[in-house]
Amino acid sequence: MRVLDRLEELYAIGGGVGANRVGGSDAEDRAHELAAGWMREAQLEVEVDPAGNLIGRSADSRIWTGSHLDSVPNGGKFDGALGVVAGIEAVERAGVGTVVAFRDEERGCVGSGAFVEHGLLPETFLEVHVEQGPVLARRGAPLGIVTGIVGMVRGERVFEGEAGHAGTVPMDGRQDALLAAAEYVLRVREAAEAVDGAVATVGELQVEPGAANVIPARVRLSVDIRAPDAERLEPLVRALGVTPSFPLEPVEMAATPREALRAELAVRNLPLVELVSGAGHDAAVLGAAGVSAGMLFVRSLNGGISHAPEELSSPEDIALAVDVLSGTLTRLAAATD
Ligand code: GLV
Ligand code: MN
Ligand code: MN
Repeated sequence: MRVLDRLEELYAIGGGVGANRVGGSDAEDRAHELAAGWMREAQLEVEVDPAGNLIGRSADSRIWTGSHLDSVPNGGKFDGALGVVAGIEAVERAGVGTVVAFRDEERGCVGSGAFVEHGLLPETFLEVHVEQGPVLARRGAPLGIVTGIVGMVRGERVFEGEAGHAGTVPMDGRQDALLAAAEYVLRVREAAEAVDGAVATVGELQVEPGAANVIPARVRLSVDIRAPDAERLEPLVRALGVTPSFPLEPVEMAATPREALRAELAVRNLPLVELVSGAGHDAAVLGAAGVSAGMLFVRSLNGGISHAPEELSSPEDIALAVDVLSGTLTRLAAATD
């Protein structure tokens, strides 16, 4: 299947273990060049916006679809890439729509953020994405309709101590920045566990000067906090003392694309499962900016693992997602005539 061949081609770009197309890298550029070629093959009119987002328009370009081509380090084959490749396929098949590949999603929706600041917004955006969780597999459903996307805040904390000799400074005379950071990491876990539906993660740590025989003088760590609504998110962010560098407000998916997706599942006798996304997506950025945004999730296998090379969806489920996306594009375009 062409969609799978293209996913393999993208996956091979960065080399190493898993997908390695971090935002801003040469690998992300190469992925965009490949996708631009596929858009031209599909007879789409190709444009790159000032933020580097790749846009391919068909003759009737009103309804947009797409996702991102960057990945986390050692990421999976489907996250982001599936939405772009399935989008190209569906737009070509339907003969209507526009496909977009946003830049640098994983590090904070950089491309879609710039797009909503400066672009002329489409009326509707539909994003196909791998679920990245176990819900659809547990419910025996190949596809699911997203009802909303959780709110998220990313920021950093810095801990200062005093460098010293690891062999000569007694334990009771130390100001070890990493110990202070470690206590904070435990506090992050406790605080998130106390809020229903919230999660928080410290995923990056920089220790300075960073030598085995030097007491850490400075530690910088990242904090990623998520909750289903602002009432739960904001107190947690305050309690953990994080100044947001990347906030994404909780967003509900719009009624019109949700209804169109429901209708397309129904005509294929597919089960209707609706679920909330715990992952952030470009659709949240567009939805928060007033675009009528909808998302279609594709069942994740392997227990729903994602942001890891073991991420998996089946060829059959992906083929169904392309069918439903192409039907939904046609349906929405006809409804806006
Ligand atoms: C994007 O993948 C995110 O939810 O971090
Ligand atoms: Mn993604
Ligand atoms: Mn991701």
